[in-house]
Amino acid sequence: MVDTVRVSTTDGVATVVIDNPPVNALGADLRRDLMTALRDAEADASVQVIVLAAAGRTWPAGADIREFGQPPRDPWLPEVCSAVAACPKPVIVAMHGNALGGGLELALAAHVRLADPGTRLGLPEVTLGILPGAGGTQRLPRLIGARAALGMMTSGLPIPAERALELGLIDAVTEGEARLAAQRLAAAHIAGEASLPSAAERPDHRMDASDWLAAVTEARKGLGVSRLPAPPRIIDCVEAALLLPEEEGFAYERTAFEELVSTPEAAALRHAFLAERRAARHPELAATKPREIAEIGVIGGGLMGSGIATACLAAGYRVTMIERDDQALTAGLARVATNRDRAVAKGQLSVADRETEWSRMSGATAMSALAGADLVIEAAFEDEGVKTAIFAELDGVVKPGAVLATNTSYLDVNRIAAATSRPGDVIGLHFFSPAQVMKLLEVVVAERTSPDVTATAFALAKRLGKVAVRAGVCDGFIGNRVLTAYRTATDFLLEDGASPYQIDRAMVGWGFPLGPYQVLDMAGLDISWARRTRLAEHRDPSERYVAIGDRLCKLGRLGQKAGRGYYLYAEGARTGTEDPEVLEVIAAERTAKGIEPRRITEAEIQRRALAAMANEGARILEEKIAARPSDIDLVMLTGYGFPRWRGGPMQMADQVGLLELRDTLRDYAREEETFWRPAALWDELIKNGRKFADLNAD
Ligand code: 3HC
Repeated sequence: MVDTVRVSTTDGVATVVIDNPPVNALGADLRRDLMTALRDAEADASVQVIVLAAAGRTWPAGADIREFGQPPRDPWLPEVCSAVAACPKPVIVAMHGNALGGGLELALAAHVRLADPGTRLGLPEVTLGILPGAGGTQRLPRLIGARAALGMMTSGLPIPAERALELGLIDAVTEGEARLAAQRLAAAHIAGEASLPSAAERPDHRMDASDWLAAVTEARKGLGVSRLPAPPRIIDCVEAALLLPEEEGFAYERTAFEELVSTPEAAALRHAFLAERRAARHPELAATKPREIAEIGVIGGGLMGSGIATACLAAGYRVTMIERDDQALTAGLARVATNRDRAVAKGQLSVADRETEWSRMSGATAMSALAGADLVIEAAFEDEGVKTAIFAELDGVVKPGAVLATNTSYLDVNRIAAATSRPGDVIGLHFFSPAQVMKLLEVVVAERTSPDVTATAFALAKRLGKVAVRAGVCDGFIGNRVLTAYRTATDFLLEDGASPYQIDRAMVGWGFPLGPYQVLDMAGLDISWARRTRLAEHRDPSERYVAIGDRLCKLGRLGQKAGRGYYLYAEGARTGTEDPEVLEVIAAERTAKGIEPRRITEAEIQRRALAAMANEGARILEEKIAARPSDIDLVMLTGYGFPRWRGGPMQMADQVGLLELRDTLRDYAREEETFWRPAALWDELIKNGRKFADLNAD
């Protein structure tokens, strides 16, 4: 067994150092060792003060998330915190790095809290669908007041050490290492040269009950229509901290924590957290080093190209934009400039930094300007001929070893790579619009892509602050394939009797920020129309094809930009109104196909949407386009608005039950065999008593 705690005692000061890499999460072994160290220090008559510090990159960043959902192991974190609080000898904590969740709760139980200047302190439990369950909801409002505590706990956002000091959450921001400062303070206390703040001296915010209750009322009003169960329970606990005797308050928090931790929402949010970390684990990444990237070329200055250039510039790279002529280049550079001005307006970037940054941005109309680039990202028109011509030209220009990336959303990266003499250097980097904002980056690894090029793409994503997910080459990669299946399922429903408005309401009600037809209107109906037209010659005529979208495009209803799509838009409006003309187009299609409209419920819409997405996900896994189910979930969560608290289609399929969903697919397949036929993976998993989650293999 590895000891997760080290203790050394000098001149009456016992220094207890937590050492549980990578983030000192408070797992069962650490809790046990910590408890033993505390009890020993308490019993050791030579010890007068205990300093609690952590080794490595951080103070504990929380409870061990992997233990949630497992049988509990003693001692629980609340017991460890109570032991710290009840310790008859002063406990001084010395924090650095991220004092988060249970880590901050441990510190809250101590008598004195010090933090080094870079420390971030927070209670992010709400982002995992739970609440601080080791005394945080009781101790924090007492210490800093209900309003500030509710702000931290319902947002989950960390605060810097300086702000924590202003709030009274910590006693000092140390100069230099907090552990040394804590040891000096302990020694001074023993020598009678410094006094430690006693509990009686600290302000007790419970004295101002009316302000406390007002903060609780405001927080309840501020919740709006959130469907997550954790925020209201956090507020209940803070109210309980005022109204109940201390022990009952702690017990109230414990009950609320246990209720929340077993909800499907909490399971989904934990899954999303772990999926994000898992996505970067691939054998080729462990075995190779990324190439050095300092200078990036971006081909295309449209919405996508300028967004990519903005993201690269903001991450500190030198960027050269290429456009076909001066006018297009000026417009492209202006888009980047506007994006960065917005960052200044939002206070994310200082005016001075904005100016220095711009010295790294340049533009040209000739590819030869990319001769020194370490990476070129092509974001030109989505057409294979256009892209292969660009790659052939690039091949003659860029230096050996440069990475050549295409931002295609659907096209065959193998064929684009074949246009060069160096297919090993070619990769797909599928950004999502607006690229400077959206978190997702699909890294499309072609047949001949070198492992170090893939590693370079993942390193780039990390520096851009994006979540990279590895995908194989196919039409639409991971995300657009699942999206196409989702849209096909809702298009069938449109023909069968639902209206686009009913479908949008059902999916928004399910948790998507926008319904599928609202999204289509926003993106422009012509984009998917062009793709359908491209695929038309390969379409199997026996497959069901819904032509409603094509009909609308032919009527000039191209979406928001045209003032009408599935909805009608008043001049400049971004939300539309329902339009009877669209219903007429749909009705005409039904008549032409001899379809008698039937009544469709919201529950059926949601069920079919999930079944279609999860089934396409299963096919993607079978074809090894995605490495694991959680990568598919991550793509849908970070790029397509799938509600994070539902965890993604594969996680939801596990929650609904594989057998049940497979049977549902079989039922639907009686109507339309090709689209709804369950992928073979369903049977394989069911037969072996497994779930999609079992394929995630940590
Ligand atoms: N439990 C278990 N593992 C954790 C963890 C946690 N709380 N926090 C991070 N890890 C793991 C990650 O999974 C990752 O593992 P891997 O190397 O095997 O992929 C590794 O630690 C490093 O994490 P990151 O890649 O995220 O490292 P970063 O340096 O980018 O970020 C961090 C560090 C800011 C601490 C970030 O990991 C983080 O935000 N962690 C979660 C913090 C959190 O939510 N804490 C609250 C937990 S709930 C709780 O405490 C309940 C209590 O009230 C009872």
